[in-house]
Amino acid sequence: MTTRAVATGIGHYLPENVVENSWFEDKLDTSDDWIRTRSGIERRHFAAEGETTSHMATKAARAALLMAELQPDDIDALIVATSTPDLTFPSVATMVQSELGMTRGFAFDVQAVCAGFIFALVNANALIVSGQAERVMIIGAETFSRIMDWEDRATCVLFGDGAGALILEARSGSGNSQDRGILSSDLNSDGRYRDMLYVDGGVSTSGTSGKLRMQGNPLFRQAVAKLAATANTALEKAGLAHADVDWIVPHQANIRIIQGTAKKLDVPMDRVIVTVQDHGNTSAASIPLALSVGVSTGQIRPGDLLVAEAIGGGLAWGAVVLRW
Ligand code: UT7
Repeated sequence: MTTRAVATGIGHYLPENVVENSWFEDKLDTSDDWIRTRSGIERRHFAAEGETTSHMATKAARAALLMAELQPDDIDALIVATSTPDLTFPSVATMVQSELGMTRGFAFDVQAVCAGFIFALVNANALIVSGQAERVMIIGAETFSRIMDWEDRATCVLFGDGAGALILEARSGSGNSQDRGILSSDLNSDGRYRDMLYVDGGVSTSGTSGKLRMQGNPLFRQAVAKLAATANTALEKAGLAHADVDWIVPHQANIRIIQGTAKKLDVPMDRVIVTVQDHGNTSAASIPLALSVGVSTGQIRPGDLLVAEAIGGGLAWGAVVLRW
């Protein structure tokens, strides 16, 4: 028998304020057509004044608990993937813990930018298979609208805010690729690329939170190659092939990156969950948001084989193969 980390609950939260591409046309030298054609984005949600990463994370967490039919104190560990915490410390995870009324277990944040949810998922799996936790909640939550340079048309049109939460529980499996739960993973980072996507402020430098800076085109080229490679490696580790994949659940940065990666993996676009048109790039929140939408629309069903993959600042990138 093998212990598997099996998904039992998923939920998400998006701020009420929906901003269409046309909103930017009055403020910047840009157009709805450019944004749609180059990125696939049509709209995104922005957090209201006073609405924080921990508020959104807590709402997503409540939805996931409801689906899993669990109470906050049933959770042993809570991991939040974010690069836009409410405060420098304490962690967003401890804030969510307290908002939920969770009085036991442990909570911490993971920071791997847009790949954060994948890194958090791998940590959650390790906690479960090593027997340190039976039930782990993983949340991706971001308020990237707070680190935008609103005069930089090459970045501010691309990002959005939101949160998604997933609950994993220990279950017995037979150890083969037919098991439900996380079957394999692959994590990578390479700090030589750190100038490709970064925030130009921080505690030990400027003492400010800074603004996002990105070399979009070189990053685009890195993204397609590295995402296809990491997805392939994770599939190989699980002893599975492209034809076994029911759904790719990609990081939602750009429809052209999503299409390019799917093509390299030889998976048709009707087996890819796409939410980038409605959410924009929500960094660490994008995969749990896409998962939650995919489950709520009935696209993702129990037993489906999923490959989730993401890349972000660092660069940091990785993939997880899981059977829903
Ligand atoms: O989440 C982490 C991972 N993130 C990513 O992987 C993002 C990767 N990059 C991308 O998604 C794309 O590179 C972008 C969407 C950011 C840009 O698309 P692109 O096809 O790579 O365009 P580009 O950067 O080569 O820019 C093409 C032109 C430039 O003008 P010139 O130099 O050709 O005259 C830009 O100045 O488009 C211009 N441009 C814009 N025009 C209208 C850049 N932003 C805008 C804009 N509206 N908002």
